[in-house]
Amino acid sequence: MSRPLVATIDIAALRHNLAVARKCAPQSKILAIVKANAYGHGLARAVRGFSDADGLGLIEPDSAAELRELGWQKRIVLLEGFFDEADLQTIVEHRLDTVVHSEEQLRMLECMKVDMPIDVHLKMNSGMNRLGFVPAEYRAAWQRLRAISAVRHISFITHFANAEDADNPGMPPSEQVRRFYETTRGLEGERCLSNSAAELMRPEYAADWVRPGVMLYGATPADRSAASFDLLPAMTLMSEIIGIQHIAAGDAVGYGSRFIADGPMTIGVVACGYADGYPRHAPDGTPILVEGIRTRVVGRVSMDMITVDLTPIADAHVGSKVTLWGNGLPIDEVATAAGTVGYELMCAIMPRVRVIESDD
Ligand SMILES: Cc1ncc(COP(=O)(O)O)c(C=O)c1O
Repeated sequence: MSRPLVATIDIAALRHNLAVARKCAPQSKILAIVKANAYGHGLARAVRGFSDADGLGLIEPDSAAELRELGWQKRIVLLEGFFDEADLQTIVEHRLDTVVHSEEQLRMLECMKVDMPIDVHLKMNSGMNRLGFVPAEYRAAWQRLRAISAVRHISFITHFANAEDADNPGMPPSEQVRRFYETTRGLEGERCLSNSAAELMRPEYAADWVRPGVMLYGATPADRSAASFDLLPAMTLMSEIIGIQHIAAGDAVGYGSRFIADGPMTIGVVACGYADGYPRHAPDGTPILVEGIRTRVVGRVSMDMITVDLTPIADAHVGSKVTLWGNGLPIDEVATAAGTVGYELMCAIMPRVRVIESDD
């Protein structure tokens, strides 16, 4: 018998969500984002699920090399470019595209001694103030790239700070779009702006390419449900009840005795904890399913276990099936209850969690 905690990755859901992304941006090519081990879903599974994508994007050079070993032949883009000289060799050896976002990277490229052509995506800081050249410095960076003989195609890329929030007072997406197009006016090359939120909520921003990530895994940064966009959960995390306690009014549950019963109740102990990737900060009331029935986390999440209220589940027993998130319980709902985002939960799945695949 192995521990009953299992993450099921649904390859058909990955495929379906990619088709949704395609429908949102029918004129665009799709760079499916697979950083962080395909948001926790596994690179090999992403290669299968996203076989219809036009390219894959990620930040880890060694994972990019692994994608080639897994047989991915189409475009691969390193979204943060290269970190050192060795990465440049990886780029050449594995035919990777690279983002260039900094003066340091530009200088390294200028000094590089390779004859193999490299395709570069020049990153603009159009208002997020994370990576990229600000508009005032962007065209000069482009000129320098053009002068490097190893640089073949130059594409233009920027990233939204608030694509899901059109009226964000800090930086509305429309202002980023304005800066991006104004700065790249007249320059020849492909353009790419949209992440999932932009694809789902600002389809008019789709350009030559789009770069969806989290939507492909069945979650959304929007304040609407993923299901309302026809997205399917690609990861379902399930476990079982491994212990039951009957407690009385005034009894406390778990570390710190955070939860105190106000009447007699039945507590189920679930084999899943923060060392599996379940958020330790999930408060009492975080939704969870037992035998498909919705109930709540009660008491602090511990390393290997969660305690849940079994009151609504009349015939709950040791061995009852528990859904932490996925089919029947959107990961976004669990994330919201725990004060985080679906991205963080899916990426945090730990190596000790058994992973199986389904594909139907
Ligand atoms: C540069 C870049 N493009 C695209 C994405 C995909 O974003 P999302 O997962 O929100 O679709 C990310 C993710 O953070 C990113 O950093």
